[in-house]
Amino acid sequence: MYFDTHAHYDDKAFDNDRNALLTRLNDEGVDYILDPGCDLASSRAAIALAERFDFVYAAVGFHPEELEGYSEEAFQQMEALAAHPKCVAIGEIGLDYYWDASHKTEQKALFRRQIDLALALDKPVIIHDREAHGDCMEIVRDYPGLRGVFHCYSGSAEMAEELLKRGWYLGFDGPITYKNARKALEVLALCPLERLLIETDSPYLSPVPLRGKRNDSGNLPYIVDKIAEIKGLSHEAVAAATMANGCRLFGIGEEN
Ligand code: NI
Repeated sequence: MYFDTHAHYDDKAFDNDRNALLTRLNDEGVDYILDPGCDLASSRAAIALAERFDFVYAAVGFHPEELEGYSEEAFQQMEALAAHPKCVAIGEIGLDYYWDASHKTEQKALFRRQIDLALALDKPVIIHDREAHGDCMEIVRDYPGLRGVFHCYSGSAEMAEELLKRGWYLGFDGPITYKNARKALEVLALCPLERLLIETDSPYLSPVPLRGKRNDSGNLPYIVDKIAEIKGLSHEAVAAATMANGCRLFGIGEEN
């Protein structure tokens, strides 16, 4: 019923119950999970989980906060992982000026290098954009053939309109249930149903009423409910559409 297109089950927050939790989530209606890597170790761990569980898929890449772990050798090993049959995207990659605004040049260079890899492999990208909207857009405009998702979308309505015109998907997470979510709800309202993805970003970003607790894909219904409310659709219609969207973008499932 649900496709969580962004959840970090390789995170140490799941070390005590990872396998049991994933088995239970799958039994309870989470049909697919995409686990994106943030550095070489977590990319490797995401691939290992995808090998263990049929319904889990992986993405590999260097998150902009993980510049320290990036070296030529590490990049080449990540590139080798990207060829794995269950690696369906390059991510999460992008720019983060909230955590680190002092290495913008390095972040941009690594972002472009990973976009080149995605294009060479004909895979979509999962973009992390935190307080770097202008520079992310500048880079994305340079690659008209690139496809993917802006994960946990936090930009303006104008930026969303440009991304949608360019064929991008927008990912929505727990924060759409927060009290101060005005801007994200405005974007949700304008985003066509067929370009929406649902994500938890587990173990982070738990939706209301579980804010502050460890998040997992079992909380997707709160996100689906909020989207259904904004769009005036049923819970089932939103779950089905976001499932189809994730399968289309990442090439997963029977039709792909
Ligand atoms: Ni993430």
